[in-house]
Amino acid sequence: MIETLSRAAFATLAGSALLKTVASRYGMRTPGSFARRFVAGETMEEAIAAAAELERQGLIVTLDHLGERVATQEAALAAARDYGAIIEAAAGAGISRNLSVKLTQLGLDIDRATCTDNLRRVLDVAAQADFFVRIDMEGSAYTQSTFDVFESLWGIGCRNIGVVIQAYLRRSPGDVARMNELGTRVRLVKGAYREPREVAFQEKEDVDRAFVELMRMLLTAGHSPAIATHDPAMIEATRGFATERGLARTAYEFQLLYGIRRDLQRALAADGHPVRVYVPFGTEWFPYFMRRLGERPANVGFVMKSLFKEQQD
Ligand code: FDA
Repeated sequence: MIETLSRAAFATLAGSALLKTVASRYGMRTPGSFARRFVAGETMEEAIAAAAELERQGLIVTLDHLGERVATQEAALAAARDYGAIIEAAAGAGISRNLSVKLTQLGLDIDRATCTDNLRRVLDVAAQADFFVRIDMEGSAYTQSTFDVFESLWGIGCRNIGVVIQAYLRRSPGDVARMNELGTRVRLVKGAYREPREVAFQEKEDVDRAFVELMRMLLTAGHSPAIATHDPAMIEATRGFATERGLARTAYEFQLLYGIRRDLQRALAADGHPVRVYVPFGTEWFPYFMRRLGERPANVGFVMKSLFKEQQD
């Protein structure tokens, strides 16, 4: 039954206040709690410890302070300032200088100018500490405005910044071509949101075909592209194309999410590929966590088992 739950069903569940209350109570309570499989912790210290452990295993990281769709100027500014503290702590700990941010966390729902100012604040601090900042891509209602904010900062010379392109969007070949032309670093993903048929492919085989096409564009004319997937077929297609083109393994990187296919993360790194793990942390982990369940409904079984165990402990 669980296997037949759709991404749409998870999007609906993600809106449930009751579920959020229950999940928040049990999800991160102890080191064995279910959300900890996908979220490194609620505090910066926990995230840095998790990142340092990954780096000891030969992986590199990007830190994501979870939070999205903030509704007030104060919250958006606070999110930008929090990144200042994270940059300082991560630099002090000697882990990779790489962040992932969401524009709705920095005020995109309020207005574009607020968001642009806040992102500029983050980029200024990041540039001083030699950090790279990746703008995650959210639902399709934000795609164009995300590229607009990005281009306005790129246009005034910010270069420590990159974007994410989702293979499921029908518009993405044009976006990849544009980013290649600008010289921007792109992370390619399949896409994690529920989208209408008019804007996004719905079938896995169509998304996979698009992913391979975009991967080829990036490996041919892109700039330090990141191929972000846990799908062995996509990874093999990438390795095969890179070999065909005579590319060094360091010409691109693989990226995977914290807690997902840890075996594959280590195997790729052992084989000489740069492998960056996306390390999310913070108290606002519920929407992120629900997207991970939606990608693989079998994860619900894992959650139920740990919940049952928690209640016995
Ligand atoms: P697919 O979904 O086809 O999964 C392939 C295999 O991977 C599965 O069979 C399973 O083995 C494993 N797997 C995948 N998801 C799993 C899960 N949740 N739990 C356990 N196993 C799982 N999306 C977006 O819209 N905007 C963004 O900015 C980002 N950023 C981002 C960064 C990084 C580093 C990664 C890896 C992914 C993202 N994503 C994202 C998410 C992305 O769009 C996509 O939803 C997931 O990566 C799942 O797709 P796969 O490519 O892994 O393939």
